Amino acid sequence: MKTYICQICGDAYLGHEKPTDCPFCGAHDNFIKEGKESNPIINQPTDISELSKKNLEETLALEIRANAIYLCMAGKADTYELKAMYKRLAKVELEHAAVVTKLMNIQMPEIAPQECSEDDVENFRKTIELEEHATDIYSKFAKEATEANIRIFFTALMQVEKDHIELIKNYL
Ligand SMILES: [Fe+2]
Ligand SMILES: [Fe+2]
Repeated sequence: MKTYICQICGDAYLGHEKPTDCPFCGAHDNFIKEGKESNPIINQPTDISELSKKNLEETLALEIRANAIYLCMAGKADTYELKAMYKRLAKVELEHAAVVTKLMNIQMPEIAPQECSEDDVENFRKTIELEEHATDIYSKFAKEATEANIRIFFTALMQVEKDHIELIKNYL
């Protein structure tokens, strides 16, 4: 068994092989390194520009809102599979929020509960809408970032949210 560390969320995965995606934040395997080669972005002191600060704040708001919406959807889902899937999505989005708090050196804000539909299909459509919005703004934020680790963060996040769209489309 080995220790693998995600360069985006900084969490350690203990396993026999490198996972294809980070089990915690969903970052792709190119961001996962063997322990001794790792230097996660949250471990790199960075002077964050005003623009990136604003973009990270918007990201934090979006991620915690997504977390609460997916928890609502997990509660309404008709099958165990969908409940488990939405719970995991909620955890992944919370992990994204946690990375932002570490990059900005701030506390995790309180998370307000959110509403969602009783209908799974309606929730799938809402999920795709949220993830498409996230993908678009993270792509913009990545281009705007002048700090290497912030650019890497938004690039990785954009890929993860895109994966979520693919995941949900399988259910439609
Ligand atoms: Fe990760
Ligand atoms: Fe996210």
